Amino acid sequence: MQETILILDFGSQYTQLIARRLRELNVYCEITPWNKPRELDDTIKGVIFSGSPFSVRDENAPVPKVEMYKGKVPLLGVCFGAQFMANHFGGEVLPSKIREYGRANLAFVDESSDLLQGVRHNSQVWMSHGDTIKKVPADFKVICSTDDVEFAGYKIENESTYGIQFHPEVYHSEDGKKLLENFVVTICGCSQNWTPDEFIEITIEKLKNQIGSDSVILGLSGGVDSSVAATILHKAIGDQLHCIFVDNGLLRKNEFESVLESYKGLGLNVKGVDAKEKFYTALAGESDPEKKRKIIGGVFIDVFDEESQKVKDAKWLGQGTIYPDVIESVSATGGPSATIKSHHNVGGLPDYMKLQVVEPLKLLFKDEVRRVGRALEIPENIVGRHPFPGPGLGIRILGDITAEKVRILQEVDSIFIEGLKKWNLYDDVWQAGAILLPVQTVGVMGDERTYENAVALRAVSSTDGMTADWCHLPYDFLAKISNEIINNVRGINRVTYDISSKPPATIEWE
Ligand code: XMP
Repeated sequence: MQETILILDFGSQYTQLIARRLRELNVYCEITPWNKPRELDDTIKGVIFSGSPFSVRDENAPVPKVEMYKGKVPLLGVCFGAQFMANHFGGEVLPSKIREYGRANLAFVDESSDLLQGVRHNSQVWMSHGDTIKKVPADFKVICSTDDVEFAGYKIENESTYGIQFHPEVYHSEDGKKLLENFVVTICGCSQNWTPDEFIEITIEKLKNQIGSDSVILGLSGGVDSSVAATILHKAIGDQLHCIFVDNGLLRKNEFESVLESYKGLGLNVKGVDAKEKFYTALAGESDPEKKRKIIGGVFIDVFDEESQKVKDAKWLGQGTIYPDVIESVSATGGPSATIKSHHNVGGLPDYMKLQVVEPLKLLFKDEVRRVGRALEIPENIVGRHPFPGPGLGIRILGDITAEKVRILQEVDSIFIEGLKKWNLYDDVWQAGAILLPVQTVGVMGDERTYENAVALRAVSSTDGMTADWCHLPYDFLAKISNEIINNVRGINRVTYDISSKPPATIEWE
């Protein structure tokens, strides 16, 4: 029986953030589209209505079945959620004269409110809406206000139903996390038992029952998700798990060998497959980014398929799918929370393989996967590593791919990444890498003129890769790395640093 807070998603860009904040409080929660609501049962301790890009006055605005929950379990409406309840039960919601967006301060806080214990008078909150509640029904009691917004927060008398028009889940709401804690712990009574150890114990038990004595195959990529998925499966079913790690010739320098070594250290039953030549042959002469991706994906499936035929009685395919991927695929709102993503490490396997899919991490956010990985004692060089795209260096060599270009880029990338580690910058950066440009530039080395390739370095900060900013790395560091690259990597005579944010650019160049 896992205590759960249900979050009804109305499409706000912040819905996932609410879930993350609750998980940080060791409270388990699930996001569900508003039009596919889950029936109440004993495990659901409370419900949150998210924000939305819609106005309650829009003709096609979401109209949730609020009676399913209201008065039965504690209910918190955030922004649209709060406006919906005010409007639905007889209040009035109108466009605000000035769009209420950005920072505001709580000029009034009802100190006796259980939702607002520890939320300071005058503390900053984050507003983001074009509507405002003008009138509330008689049994709605105001519990906080800003200078411009009288009904910043309300409680319905004699029940644990609340609405707030600001976003407590956003860091700019200074005491927002405290407010959420009050809701889920004090008001809903959650016991904060959602911890990595608890997750590991429950998951191992579940996996044992689900898989029995069958075999599972899993494609390792060297990344955090597949490594943690493999380790937890291994704890549950031991050597019934058969891992396959393919060297596609597009990995980082020495990565295949060093990651394989780490996997063996973890006791995983893993087969390393050197398929470099197959990939290079299939890619020869191709410069179109999407075609390169398709070729890499296709060859991967062929190699993976061939290797999995060798595993007797494989009935299951293990995958490192994580919660954001699941939310994306079920999001029915079409609003901003329905994000665009088509990257999967082990994409569609051929139908004839007829394997059932097992996804032990499908309820976890990335930071939780890392916490679980650490609790499983997976080495830091795997748990803490930056994300790396499935097609690897293949999409960082602009134009066609050759073994020689891969070698050059591996050297450049290695100097950059090792440098970040040496300068203690690696953990401040979300993702970093080098891009080999199809551009030759003039240089001078000693007395000689050179005409060689340019590379770009890219380092970004981000939380999920959907948006990103370029990292302001120290000039001294960039100067040192640039020198080191030009002095050591033959074929490169110019280094540039990418200072574009996403959007409008993307993280990868292809
Ligand atoms: P973009 O370039 O779209 O990248 O801003 C966002 C994140 O996705 C990764 N990425 C990929 N991952 N296959 C993958 O597995 C791909 O084809 C792919 N393209 C981009 C990128 O590294 C970043 O983390």
